[in-house]
Amino acid sequence: MVSMKLVSWFPVVVACVLFEFLGHSGSFAAFIPSDNYLVACGSSQNVTFQGKTYVPDSWHSSLILKTGTPAVAKSNSSFPSPIYQSVRILSGISSYKFDIKQEGRHWIRLYFYPVPNSGQNLMSASITVATDDFVLLNNFTFKNYNGAYMFREYSVNVTSDTLTLFFIPSNNSVTFINAIEVVSIPDGVLPDQAITTNPSTPISGLSERAFETVFRLNAGGPLITAENDTLGRIWENDAKYLHVNSSALNVSVNPASIRYPPSVTTEIAPNWVYASADVMGDANVANMNFNITWVFSVNRNFRYFVRVHFCDIVSKALNNLVFNLYINDDSAIESLDLSSRTGALNVPYYKDFVSNASVDSDNFTVSVGPDSTSDMANATMNGLEIFKISNEVKSLDGLSPVESLLPRSSSKKNKTGIIIGSIVGAVVAFGLIGVCYCCLAAHRSKTNTHQAHPWLPLPLYGNSQTMTKMSTTSQKSGTASCISLASTNLDNSTNHIPGIPLTPLEPFDNSVSIIDGGNSGTDDDAADAATSAVFSQLVNPRGR
Ligand SMILES: *[C@@H]1O[C@H](CO)[C@@H](O)[C@H](O)[C@H]1NC(C)=O
Ligand SMILES: *[C@@H]1O[C@H](CO)[C@@H](O)[C@H](O)[C@H]1NC(C)=O
Ligand SMILES: *[C@@H]1O[C@H](CO)[C@@H](O)[C@H](O)[C@H]1NC(C)=O
Ligand SMILES: *[C@@H]1O[C@H](CO)[C@@H](O)[C@H](O)[C@H]1NC(C)=O
Ligand SMILES: *[C@@H]1O[C@H](CO)[C@@H](O)[C@H](O)[C@H]1NC(C)=O
Ligand SMILES: *[C@@H]1O[C@H](CO)[C@@H](O)[C@H](O)[C@H]1NC(C)=O
Ligand SMILES: *[C@@H]1O[C@H](CO)[C@@H](O)[C@H](O)[C@H]1NC(C)=O
Ligand SMILES: *[C@@H]1O[C@H](CO)[C@@H](O)[C@H](O)[C@H]1NC(C)=O
Ligand SMILES: *[C@@H]1O[C@H](CO)[C@@H](O)[C@H](O)[C@H]1NC(C)=O
Ligand SMILES: *[C@@H]1O[C@H](CO)[C@@H](O)[C@H](O)[C@H]1NC(C)=O
Ligand SMILES: *[C@@H]1O[C@H](CO)[C@@H](O)[C@H](O)[C@H]1NC(C)=O
Ligand SMILES: *[C@@H]1O[C@H](CO)[C@@H](O)[C@H](O)[C@H]1NC(C)=O
Repeated sequence: MVSMKLVSWFPVVVACVLFEFLGHSGSFAAFIPSDNYLVACGSSQNVTFQGKTYVPDSWHSSLILKTGTPAVAKSNSSFPSPIYQSVRILSGISSYKFDIKQEGRHWIRLYFYPVPNSGQNLMSASITVATDDFVLLNNFTFKNYNGAYMFREYSVNVTSDTLTLFFIPSNNSVTFINAIEVVSIPDGVLPDQAITTNPSTPISGLSERAFETVFRLNAGGPLITAENDTLGRIWENDAKYLHVNSSALNVSVNPASIRYPPSVTTEIAPNWVYASADVMGDANVANMNFNITWVFSVNRNFRYFVRVHFCDIVSKALNNLVFNLYINDDSAIESLDLSSRTGALNVPYYKDFVSNASVDSDNFTVSVGPDSTSDMANATMNGLEIFKISNEVKSLDGLSPVESLLPRSSSKKNKTGIIIGSIVGAVVAFGLIGVCYCCLAAHRSKTNTHQAHPWLPLPLYGNSQTMTKMSTTSQKSGTASCISLASTNLDNSTNHIPGIPLTPLEPFDNSVSIIDGGNSGTDDDAADAATSAVFSQLVNPRGR
């Protein structure tokens, strides 16, 4: 009897404990990405890194790798981390094609490490990576880079059911890749609209742009690694970007005390980001009227998407803290009273901006400072994200569009291939019809049986469809040149060119492994490399 009672109570107790646990950890309903490719390139076994399992590229059934002579190499040491141990070396233009289950923004995360004993000089290999639409990396080499390995994070709105990543070596050389992630981002995390600074106007059209994460900071708090972020993001401490160290003082509260409003989720930022902040320190100055300023090195030829995260964890009462936010010396928010926007303390709030880099420098600055109307002269910031926005030629690196990096000759050849293919197909088909007709006639004259040949017309339909697609795409090769961010919406409705030809071309596509260095890439921007050098340190803060 007693034991029976115990048994019947047990599940209830477990359920209660579980409920308590779920209830208290609040942000427990983790986002499950519909597309979640974690690929260890050139590996022969699963690789576990930051709590995630990366599967070898050769095991992915839906991953197509087209390449000249793929080679793999393995580092014999575990430096810098397991994800960089194996590498796939590619000669000729190669691509990975991912089936996309759900359209929308996706992270594209790339890991590069020129494995020393690979039999190739990967240090001087040129790395160019493009999607169907966007250039992500153009003519990068480790030779000019002050880091041993590199991590890059991009985000692209995928609007078709596949995403292709092209790896383009330069002349007669090879390129390489160690690991790739293609992972869905929930809608609403990266918006279509933001506010420009100077003048302060709303703009839209961001969803058509590719982003590259250049800085992601947890102000006043610890490094947050991918394991502790539902979207696998990395947030680094901000101290090394402070213009004046002593201008800031870190404060923190228990992350469990952060209360998300309906408009902010843990997908926007984990509670660890909001649970720590920088506030104005006592900079040992008589005049307590100063800004906390963060300085970032960026490429001035691009515009940047800036997300600033706030949460008032310092005030004792509502409406005490009023301060200003500046981006590149332009006022972004004047007299920001967090209480009036959130209605309570410890409640997250964020705001999105688009800003040009300064015209005369590669420094990008973000500042917070006291407002003259405030009771207390103080200012705060909890987190900051800065993304580079793709430019008018859909590049995040240089001024060459995808079309100029993928050899034109190959697409021309392919068009000819298609046409020849269609003609040959038609001739063969008609020939077959003729032959069959003759046979049939001959046959019929002997016996009187009827036979259907439903397969005959199929090759013709197949080819004519392909040709239709080709001709519609080739019409659109000329696009407007100087598009403003706001007007991209209109423009892009007629501008979904690249990528479409790829699928129908595949059967004829012999030119993929043809090496053609005839690309007009611009020089790799040194400052740009520096920017990402900094971000690359995040994966392993000890790395250089
Ligand atoms: C590799 O990882 C995948 C995905 O987690 C898993 O399904 C598979 O069983 C693993 N294979 C081995 C050999 O560990
Ligand atoms: C790794 O390989 C290189 C060359 O093959 C060799 O010089 C080096 O000692 C090896 N390192 C380890 C840790 O085995
Ligand atoms: C690439 O090849 C072209 C033609 O063969 C040559 O003119 C050019 O100098 C080469 N570029 C490099 C970087 O080797
Ligand atoms: C992606 O682009 C499509 C088409 O422009 C748009 O409808 C959609 O809202 C975008 N998604 C995101 C998450 O930006
Ligand atoms: C916060 O400041 C204290 C004292 O300056 C320092 O010891 C600590 O490392 C800082 N914490 C973070 C996360 O920066
Ligand atoms: C991150 O997660 C690990 C393990 O889950 C935990 O030990 C660590 O405290 C977490 N750190 C932060 C900053 O969330
Ligand atoms: C400021 O902080 C950074 C990073 O913590 C440190 O490298 C630098 O030496 C500090 N500078 C001063 C003047 O304390
Ligand atoms: C800002 O607020 C923090 C936390 O209350 C406090 O430690 C700091 O001294 C204040 N700074 C100034 C300049 O008053
Ligand atoms: C803070 O920086 C902004 C922009 O550079 C400047 O206009 C403002 O005067 C500064 N505030 C203080 C108190 O120094
Ligand atoms: C930002 O840069 C773009 C392109 O260079 C230019 O058209 C625009 O006027 C600039 N905006 C501001 C506010 O300077
Ligand atoms: C850029 O920032 C660095 C570091 O804060 C500073 O030394 C340099 O003077 C700045 N350059 C300009 C043009 O403001
Ligand atoms: C790539 O960069 C190298 C220098 O790092 C340069 O010599 C070469 O011409 C560049 N190639 C292209 C296609 O821009």
